[in-house]
Amino acid sequence: MEDEESYVIHELSQSLVAAKHTTVFTGAGMSTESGLPDFRSSTKGLWKKVHPETVASVSAMNENVQSFIDFYYERMKSQQQVEPHAGHTILAVWEKQGLISSIITQNVDGLHQDAGSSNVIELHGTLRKCHCNRCGKEYPDTAFLKGDYKCACGGLIRPSVVLFGESLPFDAFYKASEETEQADLFIVLGSSLSVTPANQFPLAAKKNGAKLVIVNMEPTELDYAADLVIRNWKIGELLETVNRFV
Ligand code: APR
Repeated sequence: MEDEESYVIHELSQSLVAAKHTTVFTGAGMSTESGLPDFRSSTKGLWKKVHPETVASVSAMNENVQSFIDFYYERMKSQQQVEPHAGHTILAVWEKQGLISSIITQNVDGLHQDAGSSNVIELHGTLRKCHCNRCGKEYPDTAFLKGDYKCACGGLIRPSVVLFGESLPFDAFYKASEETEQADLFIVLGSSLSVTPANQFPLAAKKNGAKLVIVNMEPTELDYAADLVIRNWKIGELLETVNRFV
């Protein structure tokens, strides 16, 4: 193993073992090794093909409803075919071992929960559920996949994700703030950290005295604030290697 690589592995494994409260913060880069695309990576990011405002925003839902439905139908379909990878599983094991306390995720794919993680805070909601945009009645994702978009009240049945133009669920925001405040180690895995207010949590942890580690294939907007930036590692491989030393 190269010097740089062993330094990274040593630093990350030692930090995990020494920390009292480790909060993990994940983005779409956590799910690419399960076969789901991310949004902004220079090669295959979803937002390189379509502008989020046209398919994933409140205005799209209100004025462009067919594109909105088509976009989320495709994402729901692709999520049905994927499994958690080794990285998701290791995070679930580390939670059981008490090595990490929680996962704050921007992802809506439910893969952390499928892998066995229980303390998962979904900042941007979930594609595993739907609800009526008028009366709030909850529906399973299968309703949407079967093409039932009309609620009995006449409202639109839409995925329970946070759209551009919507605020984060209060409960998730509150729990994420608590976990961020308690963290003495805050590890970002696979996020460009370009979306607010989600990207405020790593900064808040740092300001609160936590050690901030950012693991991301490409530069992120908060690398300047990190104590350790780990580039050019695939998250699954990194976690598998670190797992040998914790
Ligand atoms: N290992 C390490 N890094 C990876 C991997 C991998 N296997 N795969 C992708 N990445 C990196 C990419 O280089 C990219 O910088 O993960 C990062 C993912 O960043 P984004 O695509 O911007 O995704 P994310 O940060 O989660 O986006 C935040 O934006 O559009 C909204 O709601 C959407 O939750 C999403 C939010």
